[in-house]
Amino acid sequence: MIQWKEILAHVINPSTGKTLLEENRWTKAEEIEGVLHIQYRRDGINPLQKRDIEKSILNALDGKYNLENVRVYTISDRSADVYSNLKKVAEPEAANLKVGHAPVGNKRAVPGIKKIIAVGSGKGGVGKSTFSVNLAISLMQQGKKVGLIDADIYGPSVPKLLGAVGQKPYSNDEKKIIPLQAHGLSFMSFGLFIDEQSPVIWRGPMLGGVLNQFLFDVDWSGVDYLIIDLPPGTGDVQLSMVQNTHVDAAIVICTPQDLALLDAVKGLEMFRKLGVPVAGMVENMSTFICDGCGKEHELFGHGGVKKTCEKLDVPYLGSIPLEMDLRVSSDSGTPFMTTFGSVNRPSVKAYEKSAHNLIETLGL
Ligand SMILES: Nc1ncnc2c1ncn2[C@@H]1O[C@H](COP(=O)(O)OP(=O)(O)OP(=O)(O)O)[C@@H](O)[C@H]1O
Ligand SMILES: [Mg+2]
Repeated sequence: MIQWKEILAHVINPSTGKTLLEENRWTKAEEIEGVLHIQYRRDGINPLQKRDIEKSILNALDGKYNLENVRVYTISDRSADVYSNLKKVAEPEAANLKVGHAPVGNKRAVPGIKKIIAVGSGKGGVGKSTFSVNLAISLMQQGKKVGLIDADIYGPSVPKLLGAVGQKPYSNDEKKIIPLQAHGLSFMSFGLFIDEQSPVIWRGPMLGGVLNQFLFDVDWSGVDYLIIDLPPGTGDVQLSMVQNTHVDAAIVICTPQDLALLDAVKGLEMFRKLGVPVAGMVENMSTFICDGCGKEHELFGHGGVKKTCEKLDVPYLGSIPLEMDLRVSSDSGTPFMTTFGSVNRPSVKAYEKSAHNLIETLGL
């Protein structure tokens, strides 16, 4: 038996005293190209216990395995009970949002955060949320602590992309909202506060107020990079964001169609006008690699984003093909980069390049 399997077999769930193996919690343990990916089912385990379990895992592996090459993931079938034990430990309060106008504020730093990165696009449906989530995982895989804000009130999708639909955030003693955790990321989303089925009728001017709360009323301590997945376009949320805090970099996502590109240029110009440095543009859904014939098809034309970047003097961060695995991973709540991060694929390279480029330019 491989040594790490034996080690993991002895890791204990502190709330029951039984091993995770006895509780049948291990769902994955595999070594891919020198990186150990392990995953356990965390139903009924609260965030404090989760921290203890993960400490035990790392302590057990320490000295026998290079901890830089260990990735610990969790999944949860009954996510609602993740917080149920916490009541006994800390009596948390369910977090609430105040709905109201954003105060036009002075720019403030977000406590706990070192750098803020906004992900935007000129039009909807081009893959911002998918990109934001996978960029976050890629930054994490490059050793950074990452938080993610889903600032899209009309179509919050981050809880689904991270497999956390139905989870509810709580607040701590200082009345700060505790961000939820999934796949090693801390995140916050409108989707955690609204019922997926209910129509969202809050109007534009109120949105900035909620984003403000996500920035300033959430306990982001311990997070280096905060990624903001913006709603599409050039509206109130974008404006309120830059009025209230300093954004260090923006990434603009677009698809290769001409029309989308024109929109993308508008998105890019908006960031420039607002004084947010543009870290680059990404071409998403650029080609389609047929899993039947293996050929690469340029369904919408290809290379337009690179040319636009050259024309506008903006870094080109790479192109992400249309990939079945990307769509399927998003739908299943396990981000693509957690599963395929160590595989040699153009999409993986584009995520890694974007993460690497940000780390280089932001110098953190
Ligand atoms: N490269 C890709 N290959 C395959 N599917 C993709 C790719 N990028 C995004 N998708 C899929 O396209 C759909 C839209 O993506 P996503 O939700 O990330 O877009 P968005 O720009 O955030 O949309 P919105 O403007 O509604 O917020 C999703 O179903 C997603 O899984
Ligand atoms: Mg989105």
